Amino acid sequence: MTRMSIDKNVTNLFQVGGPVVKEQFYDRRDVLGELEDLARKRSYPGFALYGSRRTGKTSILKEFIRRTGNKKDIIPIYLDVSGVHPFNAERFYDQVFSLTIDAFREKGKISLKANITEILKGSLSGLVAVMKDTEVSLSVKEYLELKISVKESEADLQKLLEKAFNTIEELSKETGCRGILILDEFPFIENFGLENLSWAIRSITQNWKNTCLIIAGSSVSMMKELTSAKTAPFYMLLQVRRIEAFDEKTSAGMIKERFKRINIVVDDDSLKKIFDLTHGFPFYLQWLGDRIHDNLAGKQIGEELIEKAYTEIMKEGEVIFAADLEKLSSGERDVLVGIAISDSGRASSISRRVGRSAAVTGKMIERLVEKGYLARIEAGLYEFTDPLLKNWLKQRYS
Ligand SMILES: Nc1ncnc2c1ncn2[C@@H]1O[C@H](COP(=O)(O)OP(=O)(O)OP(=O)(O)O)[C@@H](O)[C@H]1O
Ligand SMILES: [Mg+2]
Repeated sequence: MTRMSIDKNVTNLFQVGGPVVKEQFYDRRDVLGELEDLARKRSYPGFALYGSRRTGKTSILKEFIRRTGNKKDIIPIYLDVSGVHPFNAERFYDQVFSLTIDAFREKGKISLKANITEILKGSLSGLVAVMKDTEVSLSVKEYLELKISVKESEADLQKLLEKAFNTIEELSKETGCRGILILDEFPFIENFGLENLSWAIRSITQNWKNTCLIIAGSSVSMMKELTSAKTAPFYMLLQVRRIEAFDEKTSAGMIKERFKRINIVVDDDSLKKIFDLTHGFPFYLQWLGDRIHDNLAGKQIGEELIEKAYTEIMKEGEVIFAADLEKLSSGERDVLVGIAISDSGRASSISRRVGRSAAVTGKMIERLVEKGYLARIEAGLYEFTDPLLKNWLKQRYS
């Protein structure tokens, strides 16, 4: 092989699925810069990142965490709220608490030997050992003490929340560090079924001096409800940043940079075509890029090859798009499919098409907006947030 030949064995040119970091992570300089500022100097209490599904929010958070890896005094604590299992508030607080301990321990800031998971599960001997240990922060002991007496009443849970969040602030203060609590898929807290949980979190975190809060979520309407209105819990507390798909220039930059790794120059027409097909969604750029790479026979990337790759992902799409549909009720699905097939996002014509009343259709549309599948353009007019899902539905159901 000559130096300039194509190395198709480069397997990690693209990564499809899962958050990406390091050499797979492209751009997002602005928001990463802001997060790094937040870590260095606590200029404001924190951030709220929101944006449609698959725009790269989790990747930004993970890349930020990776970049703080060598900073001894920055302690990021990451939790995906949607993944709390079993899904209830008490488990959520336990996770915040134990991840906090893990994070401080990993950076050598506290020397707690006990197995926190075991104690939370009810290990008495572990608990006794921690309580006796004079080196252990009072905040840790307080959480554990409360935990064993909790009766699952709302008042107890409220106290548990306070103690869990207090542990981060106290440990940060005691160790001279900056804790950063990152709660991904934050809108899921609504599903814990507690009233005013976001307000409770606000009232605790607004007093933090040593810890910052970052929340993220893909339910655009819910994130707006949490941050935008004057009556919203995080109004004026968190800096709100919208994460969007890449613009044409960034999208082209990413594709060019990837193929350059195997000495392939992608021409402008191809870059434009790739952007038009993916709408700059990082996830689809990775996926289409990967299929183009797979189908590459020579050194040329052209229209035909790109279209072949696109056809492939539309075929393979079953796995991911069908999973998207599974999260919907049958009524919501009908409406979504109706919008895709008719190519019209007018509530009135959808209602006719799916044969349901305007009121019922309106309710479905509202839920689809809440779940992040549709975006409202103006009164009565909606569009898909994910144009590839739309295309796939159209091909599949027309
Ligand atoms: N900065 C980036 N550079 C390159 N690819 C990216 C970037 N961000 C995201 N991606 C791609 O997009 C995919 C989705 O990213 P990620 O999971 O971070 O999005 P998300 O907004 O958190 O999605 P969801 O709303 O589903 O949680 C990743 O698997 C990756 O392929
Ligand atoms: Mg995510």
